[in-house]
Amino acid sequence: MNAIVAVDRNWGIGRNNDLLVHLPGDLKYYKEKTLGNVIIVGQKTLESFPGSKPLPGRTNIVLSDDPAFVRDDCIVCRTKEEVLEKAAAYEPDRVFICGGASIYRLFLDDCDACYVTKIDEAFEADTYFPDLDARLWRIDWASPAREEKGLRYRFVRYVK
Ligand SMILES: NC(=O)c1ccc[n+]([C@@H]2O[C@H](COP(=O)([O-])OP(=O)(O)OC[C@H]3O[C@@H](n4cnc5c(N)ncnc54)[C@H](OP(=O)(O)O)[C@@H]3O)[C@@H](O)[C@H]2O)c1
Repeated sequence: MNAIVAVDRNWGIGRNNDLLVHLPGDLKYYKEKTLGNVIIVGQKTLESFPGSKPLPGRTNIVLSDDPAFVRDDCIVCRTKEEVLEKAAAYEPDRVFICGGASIYRLFLDDCDACYVTKIDEAFEADTYFPDLDARLWRIDWASPAREEKGLRYRFVRYVK
């Protein structure tokens, strides 16, 4: 399976249960990668989606161990094992770990590739993705740099 994430220079990913910045080009890229596929998110990230609703056109698997969290518009799993069982029904390439921080940490070792949008800015963040440069991951593809909202960023793929 894959992870997909947007990080700043310090691997920051969010603040106040929102993204650090909304870059239209990055949201388009995220949509292209995940549309028609399976996304796996934590309960807080689901809450951060527009209208707190699952993303359309994708199978949304949400992890929560709160018994009061019951939804009929997405697949709710209570444990990592349950998520892996559901995800096993799909081609691994079609499954994307989509955050937030706790879900990335939980599934990073199960991922073969991480699609990382690297934003060349240091934001004030309160949630982070593991620093892949300090682990056994390497970049095998990178897009040219682009610029939006005065921010330079590029798409990078890390593999183990
Ligand atoms: N930059 C990016 O690409 C990106 C992508 C996604 C999210 N984010 C950001 O990440 C932040 C949210 O991250 P977060 O870590 O605070 O929240 P999160 O990972 O989205 O959700 C945390 C929740 O997931 C459930 N959970 C986590 N581990 C579990 C386990 N082992 N078993 C069962 N349930 C489990 C729990 O739900 P219950 O409390 O219901 O049990 C927990 O409260 C936001 O700022 C968001 O914008 C950034």
